Amino acid sequence: MNLSIRKVQSGAVLFNVLLFSFSLTLVFTLVANLLPQVEGEAPVEVEIDLSAMTMDGFVSLGESIFSGKGTCTLCHNNMGRAPDILQLNMVATSTERMADERYKGAAASVEDYMRESMLDPSLYVVKGFGQKGSNDTVSPMPTANKAPILLTDVEMDAVIAFMQAKDGNDVTVALPEGLPEKSAEEQAGASAVAAVQGPAETAEEALGKFTCTACHAVAGSESMVGPELNAVGNRLDKDKIRESILNPEAVIAEGFDAGMMPADFAKKMTISELDMVTEYLLNQKGGQ
Ligand code: HEC
Ligand code: HEC
Repeated sequence: MNLSIRKVQSGAVLFNVLLFSFSLTLVFTLVANLLPQVEGEAPVEVEIDLSAMTMDGFVSLGESIFSGKGTCTLCHNNMGRAPDILQLNMVATSTERMADERYKGAAASVEDYMRESMLDPSLYVVKGFGQKGSNDTVSPMPTANKAPILLTDVEMDAVIAFMQAKDGNDVTVALPEGLPEKSAEEQAGASAVAAVQGPAETAEEALGKFTCTACHAVAGSESMVGPELNAVGNRLDKDKIRESILNPEAVIAEGFDAGMMPADFAKKMTISELDMVTEYLLNQKGGQ
């Protein structure tokens, strides 16, 4: 099978965050390493007031997590690397999966199936999408509540709400604990949409902003989709590192497939971001 993912959509759309401003607040720490920084301030924490959350707001939150913090669109897109969730009707699809004789999970509903897919991806591996050589028994999908994705239960619920609502299906997940649905007028007064984007100020920020940490073990991430980069300075010189970022197809790291690393960073990164990341990686020599 030819797995390929040449472009990611996640860079551009990263953060559409709904902000609400009422009392009972719950703080979502949108993982600092995935959050583009504005003007070099300390990592931004976005406070989302769940008491003012309507189901529509919850679905939009799920959508922004799907393409942002969740990094789901890195794989779930139309490049064939994973089922194209945005095109598939995921309610109908989930129902089919549960009826498959290979399905050994415990889900009794569509909602359960989606949650199980995020929490225990290898429990049921969609045919043809398993890790190479595993005969569809091991999923390449990272567990959504572990590093580097680290979604909270509420964030996973929001993503499920989005997957249900996007095709007009009923949303079955509950709004976060005991919170009443607010009327449209109340919501209109309470919400504002903030898109956070801007050049990264440090290498770590850039590694998060461009989702490098979603695939590589580097800067605290333990992802294994691509080669670990904690000691990349020992095996590649500055030019090779730069080339690997700008033109991933030039040299394919041993044991990995071509076409997996997005090839459009040259277009997306500023020169200073590229320089910071290159310098940072050059200094990764393993150990402490
Ligand atoms: C590194 C790539 C990758 C990332 C990131 C990823 N997935 Fe997946 N996902 C896959 C692959 C490959 C499959 C198919 C294999 C399987 O069934 O586990 C899959 C399967 C699924 C399924 C089951 C689909 C079906 O047709 O039955 C759901 C639901 C899902 N992912 C949701 C998510 C969500 C939500 C996120 C973000 C929080 C996410 N995935 C992030 C690769 C990924
Ligand atoms: C969707 C997953 C993915 C993303 C996102 C990604 N990479 Fe990669 N990367 C890979 C894979 C797979 C390889 C190995 C195949 C190859 O060499 O192209 C690789 C190779 C590399 C290499 C060469 C490593 C070696 O040992 O030869 C470097 C350096 C690198 N990536 C840096 C980055 C940086 C910096 C970013 C963010 C700007 C990034 N990658 C984003 C998957 C990814």
